[in-house]
Amino acid sequence: MSAKESRYQRLFDQLKPLLLKSPNLTSQLSTINAVLYHKISYSFWVGFYFVRGKELVVGPYQGPLACQVLPFGKGVCWHAVQTGEAIIVANVHDFPGHIACDSRSVSEIVIPIKTTNNQVIGVLDIDSDKPAQFDSEDTFGLEQILSLLNPVYVEGY
Ligand code: SME
Repeated sequence: MSAKESRYQRLFDQLKPLLLKSPNLTSQLSTINAVLYHKISYSFWVGFYFVRGKELVVGPYQGPLACQVLPFGKGVCWHAVQTGEAIIVANVHDFPGHIACDSRSVSEIVIPIKTTNNQVIGVLDIDSDKPAQFDSEDTFGLEQILSLLNPVYVEGY
């Protein structure tokens, strides 16, 4: 197991019992947010956006001030919502339509959050101020962590 895989396993083990005690989606998201922001050394911004009609609206986040609303169909987060797949961007300046909430962001990973019926309700977005910080081990580790969200809370978001 690589160092990164071991770290994600530790974060998963830390979060699992905590999230069982969280009484709603906001509590679960905020707890995941705090742990990821403080434990992923290469993260510069960690947070969530949620689909509200034709917009993505910011949820819990840590790091510099974020865009409150992402307009329909534009940027990395919307790409993940529309494809239903995680996306890694090594250099956001090369991504057409990327939305720069903070000019220091350089690389980014976005993971969709889905209901049990595969409807995307929102995304987890992590930005780094350095290029190419994310890879398939981040995708796997973060998807495992998001699988800890209570499906009942996700359905009722
Ligand atoms: N860069 C994202 C917008 C959100 S910020 O990174 C916090 C995008 O292009 O969707």
